[in-house]
Amino acid sequence: MSQEESDAADSEAADETETDEEDTAESPVEELRRRRENSRKGGGEARIERQHEKGKMTAHERVKYLLDDGTFTEIDPFVEHRATSFGMDEKEFPGDAVVTGYGDVDGRKIFVFAHDFTVLGGSVGEVVAEKICKVMDRAIDSGVPVVGLNDSGGARIQEGVDSLVGFAKIFRRNTEASGLIPQISAIMGPCAGGATYSPALTDFTFMVQDTSHMFITGPDVIETVTGEEVSFEELGGAVTHSSTSGVAHFAEESEEEALDHIARLLSYLPANNVEDPPRVEPWDDPERADDELAEIVPDAPRKPYDMKDVIGSVTDEGSFFEVQENFAKNIVVGFARLDGHSVGVVANNPRVNAGTLDIESSQKGARFVRFCDAFNIPIVTFEDVPGFMPGTDQEHNGIIRHGAKLLYAFSEATVPLLTVITRKAYGGAYCVMSSKHIGGDVNYAWPTAEIAVMGPKGAVNVLYREELAEADDPDARRQELIDEYREEFANPYSAADRGFVDDVIEPAETRARLIDDLQMLKGKRSEAPEKKHGNIPI
Ligand code: HXC
Repeated sequence: MSQEESDAADSEAADETETDEEDTAESPVEELRRRRENSRKGGGEARIERQHEKGKMTAHERVKYLLDDGTFTEIDPFVEHRATSFGMDEKEFPGDAVVTGYGDVDGRKIFVFAHDFTVLGGSVGEVVAEKICKVMDRAIDSGVPVVGLNDSGGARIQEGVDSLVGFAKIFRRNTEASGLIPQISAIMGPCAGGATYSPALTDFTFMVQDTSHMFITGPDVIETVTGEEVSFEELGGAVTHSSTSGVAHFAEESEEEALDHIARLLSYLPANNVEDPPRVEPWDDPERADDELAEIVPDAPRKPYDMKDVIGSVTDEGSFFEVQENFAKNIVVGFARLDGHSVGVVANNPRVNAGTLDIESSQKGARFVRFCDAFNIPIVTFEDVPGFMPGTDQEHNGIIRHGAKLLYAFSEATVPLLTVITRKAYGGAYCVMSSKHIGGDVNYAWPTAEIAVMGPKGAVNVLYREELAEADDPDARRQELIDEYREEFANPYSAADRGFVDDVIEPAETRARLIDDLQMLKGKRSEAPEKKHGNIPI
C-alpha cells in the first residue's frame, strides 16, 4: 500500500470512529435536559427522602402545588455558589439552595421563591440572595405579588459576611416592595435569627403546625443565657406565633392547607397598588335582607354577642376570610366580598373582653387597615366598643402610643370607609373606629347604637358623685340617673341629629346599603398634600 493509500485508509478509519462517538455523545439539548434534571434534584435523593420523612415537601413540590398546572417558569436554575472556603469549592449545587421563578395562581401572575432545604439546609449565601433579589426586583417592576416559601437554616455559615450582605439586600427589597405589591411569606421549616425579619417585613405570614419555627435565638441559646427551658414549639411554633406573639397571621395544619390559603388570600388582592382588587362573579343576592340581625344585639347592654355572626350575615355568603383569627380576638379583621367586590372588614367583637380596644387589638387593626389602604381595598367597620381597656398593665405598656396607631391608620386611609355602629361607640374609641370626623365616608348606626363619651354607669358616677354620696338610697338614685343618661345619650339620635352618622338603619338593610354605598364611592378621589412620609407612632 502506497503512503497515499495508507493515509486515506487511516483517515476513513478516523471518520468512522468520530461518527461512532457522535452517535453515543450527548447532544446539546440532551445536555441541557440532563443539567436541568440535575438542578431539580437539589441536594439529591437521600436528602429529598429526609425532607419527606419530616412531613415536608421539597421546594419544587411546593411551587408546583401552589401554581396552576404547567405555568411555572423557573429563573436561574444553573446559578452556582462562588464560595471556596470550608470545602465549598468541592460542592456543586446548580440552582443553589433556592428555587425562583413565576407562574399563575388561579390565572393571575405571581413571583415565587422557595428555599430548598435539601441544599445546605436552604441556607442563604451570596447567590441565593441574588436569586431572591432578582425575582423581587422583577416583581416590583412588573407590579406582581411575591410569595416566599421559607425553609432555611438562615445565613450560610461558610459564606460569612457575604451571607449577611445577602440578607440585608433582601430586607431592603422587602421594604421597597411594601405598599407596591402584596408580599406573602410561608414558613415551612426553620426560620431563625435575622432571617425572621424578611417575613416580618412582608404583609402576611403563614406557618405550619409542628414543622415550622421562628425565633431570634433558639432554645439552646436561651437556656445558656437566661437558664430558661423552652421547647421549639412553645418558643416559636405556629400556635405561639399566631396566638401569643401575633408574628404569624395564619397557623395551618399542613403545607397543603397553607398553600391553599395563600391562593385564597391572593384572590382578594390586587396585583399592585395601582390596580383595583379583582371582582368575582357575585353569587349572593345584593338585596338579601336578614331579619334575624334585628335580634342579634341583646337587650341587656353588657350581654355579649358574636360580631362574626353580623359579618357573616352582611357579607357575601361564605366569603369572610379571617386574618389573625387567634390573636387579639377582641378585634376581628379579614377580607370578605360585597356583591363580589373585595372589602377589608374591621370589627370589635363584644364576645371577647367586651370588644375593648387594647394594645394588641390596636396594633392588629392598624396593620390591617394600612394594608387595605395601600392596596385600594375599601374598609367596612362594624363597631361595638366600650372604650380602651383600663389598667396599669395597659397604661405602662403604652396603650396611648399603640392605640394611636389605629387612630393614625384610619385617619390616613383614603380608601372608601364604611362604618356601622351596632351598639356601643364610647369615648375615644368612637373617634378611632372610622368615625366621620377622621375620614369615614358613610357612617350608619343601628337603632340599638349608643354613642356617648362613656357608658351610663361611669358617667353617672362622675357627674353625680356628691349627690349619690348624700342620697338616702344611692343605688336607686343611681339607677334613675342611669336611665336618664341612657335616654339622653345612649342612643343613635344625638349623633344622627348632628349628621355624625348619616342615617339610622334597620339591621336587615345593612347589606344592601353597604353594597349601594360601595358603588357610590367607586370613584372616590382623595388628594393629600405631598409629604415624604408621615410619622405613625410605631
Ligand atoms: C450552612 C447549614 C446551615 C447554615 C443548616 N445547614 N444550617 N449550612 N449554614 N446556616 C446544613 C447542615 O450543616 C446540614 O448539612 C443541612 O443543612 C441540614 O441541617 P441539619 O442540621 O441536618 O437539619 P435539622 O436537624 O433539620 O436542623 C435544621 C436547623 C439546624 C435547625 C436549621 O441545621 C441549625 O440549627 N442550623 C443553624 C441555624 C443557624 O443558627 N443559622 C444562623 C441563624 S442567624 P449536611 O451537609 O450535614 O446535610 C442568621 C443571621 C441572619 O441567619 C442575619 C441577617 C441579618
